Amino acid sequence: HLLEVHSLIDSTNDHLMRLIPERMSQGRVCLAEYQSAGRGRRGRQWVSPFGSQIYLSMYWYLEQGLAGAMGLSLVTALAVSDAVKNYCDIQVELKWPNDIYLSGVKLAGILIDLEGQALEPSHSVIGIGLNVNMPEESAKSIDQQWTDLKSHTNITIDRDGLCAELISCLWERLLQHRESGLSGMLDEWHKYDIYLNKPVKLLTGERTTHGICRGINNQGALLLDVDGYVKAIYGGEVSLRG
Ligand code: BTN
Repeated sequence: HLLEVHSLIDSTNDHLMRLIPERMSQGRVCLAEYQSAGRGRRGRQWVSPFGSQIYLSMYWYLEQGLAGAMGLSLVTALAVSDAVKNYCDIQVELKWPNDIYLSGVKLAGILIDLEGQALEPSHSVIGIGLNVNMPEESAKSIDQQWTDLKSHTNITIDRDGLCAELISCLWERLLQHRESGLSGMLDEWHKYDIYLNKPVKLLTGERTTHGICRGINNQGALLLDVDGYVKAIYGGEVSLRG
């Protein structure tokens, strides 16, 4: 892998997106100690203090076009799960489509940027923000409940080692996805799915739908059981029904 490590950058995702015209090599990685404009999903900010977290982006070429991007976030979530399990012996929980939870609160987030067209060779940048050791003063500016790895283990986590594991797990999962899609990963996903068979509400734009979560399908869609009829959902935010 071509790997670059920055002490300061605006956003590791934005950096790799800017390099796309240069014909990047598959799997190129950008890491940073600090992001001045870290981005979360839905236009949110990703609070990115210096020197204690993981901000990682990987470039991935999509030969088959953007149609092949479906499922990338689920595959990435599984890769984060693999890495945290292998390196820290902690099993995370997954929340469709791309959040990683631990003890019911957010541990890591995934942001995928795409450029291209449905059936033309296209580009993706897969960004992962993983809370390793959140400094107290940064915690105050986060607008959602969060946790970090340090709160769940007594050992000091070596971020270099964890990043290496993350890169290798992500690479493996992306190859597996390219070869055989999501089909071989559904069982694993369901094992760690935080909402499986639970009553949830789905927010799509202004609309709220209630149902029971039945996991995901081969396309990476959420299966929502609404009064006994299972619908495949391709976008939106799910949360537990209160
Ligand atoms: C989310 O849950 O909202 C997604 C968060 C993604 C954050 C990561 S940190 C590395 C990469 N660079 C960014 O600007 N964002 C992603």
